[in-house]
Amino acid sequence: MTQTSLFDRLSALSEPIRVRILRVLSNEELAVGEIARVLQTSQPTVSRHLKLLDGGGWVLRRKVGTATYYRLLPGELEPELARLWELVSAEVEEEAADPASLYAEDLRRLDGILSQRTGDSEELFRRLGGRWDSVRQELFGDGFTLWLLSALLPEGQVVADLGCGTGALLPVLAASAGLVIGLDREQAMLDVAAERTVNLPNVSLRRGLLDALPIESGQVHLAICGLVLHHIRELSPVISEVARVLTPEGRWVILDMVEHDREEYRSTMGHQHLGFSEDQLGKLLREAGLEIRSWRLLPPDPAALGPGLFVGVVGRVGKASQ
Ligand SMILES: C[S@@+](CC[C@H](N)C(=O)[O-])C[C@H]1O[C@@H](n2cnc3c(N)ncnc32)[C@H](O)[C@@H]1O
Repeated sequence: MTQTSLFDRLSALSEPIRVRILRVLSNEELAVGEIARVLQTSQPTVSRHLKLLDGGGWVLRRKVGTATYYRLLPGELEPELARLWELVSAEVEEEAADPASLYAEDLRRLDGILSQRTGDSEELFRRLGGRWDSVRQELFGDGFTLWLLSALLPEGQVVADLGCGTGALLPVLAASAGLVIGLDREQAMLDVAAERTVNLPNVSLRRGLLDALPIESGQVHLAICGLVLHHIRELSPVISEVARVLTPEGRWVILDMVEHDREEYRSTMGHQHLGFSEDQLGKLLREAGLEIRSWRLLPPDPAALGPGLFVGVVGRVGKASQ
């Protein structure tokens, strides 16, 4: 915002229409056409006054496509302008208490225009533009996408989260599965998972090892290993065990790190493998009659510090998956 002299500041407020413009903009962000409708005047008139107010640092401008939106945020004004606005707006609000005043009429028309806007979702999304992600997050959080995707899972299947840790995935899987087995070696992890799933009768938590699964053969439609395999030195016995518990058409979804060179993870986090390549896992899987059906690198999360991730889907050689 530009620095303005006392008289420039006062002259910006010397015309009643400019004070009316500022007042409606202190209530709502508006485009020129909308301000003109609120004030019942022409767009060129509004544009002329806005230019002066903009030059004096009174309004914030935001471009969305070809439209420009204006706003007065008292907290963002230069301190001198903020003090002046406080004085002027207090006077104006006193006058606005009279329902017959122009100021009162302005806000009634503003309400009308805003209610038209909320009924018009095209206008809403055009205005929100790049801000939609944060509005979505504010209104609904960011966990619901997982629940949306879980609705794509077949109903009633047996799903096993092998190395489930604290069980963050279990409630989401339990929404459509018939039975969800959450397996982990560590009791401390299973204790947290138990709290998470206390009201979910179709979740069965089991303490055990991936190379000796406490699960009947041929029972599991979908096995999941999320960030687990890099902790296991000898992968072949684990792969044989998963092959044993899968149904003939069962799938095994593996999420882990792609190959990387962060040697320090071996000593700081007990990693046995520095990520995996598709080739390396593919070879081990084939020895157990399994094959990789798809292999995708995940788009990196800009805030994440760890190596890149992949998700692979594995099935039995020669069998279509469910
Ligand atoms: C990095 S955590 C991942 C937990 C969870 N899957 C997730 O994505 O948040 C790895 C988990 O695998 C478990 N784990 C590691 N080796 C295991 C094994 N051989 N048998 C069973 N669980 C194991 C650990 O106890 C730990 O809870």
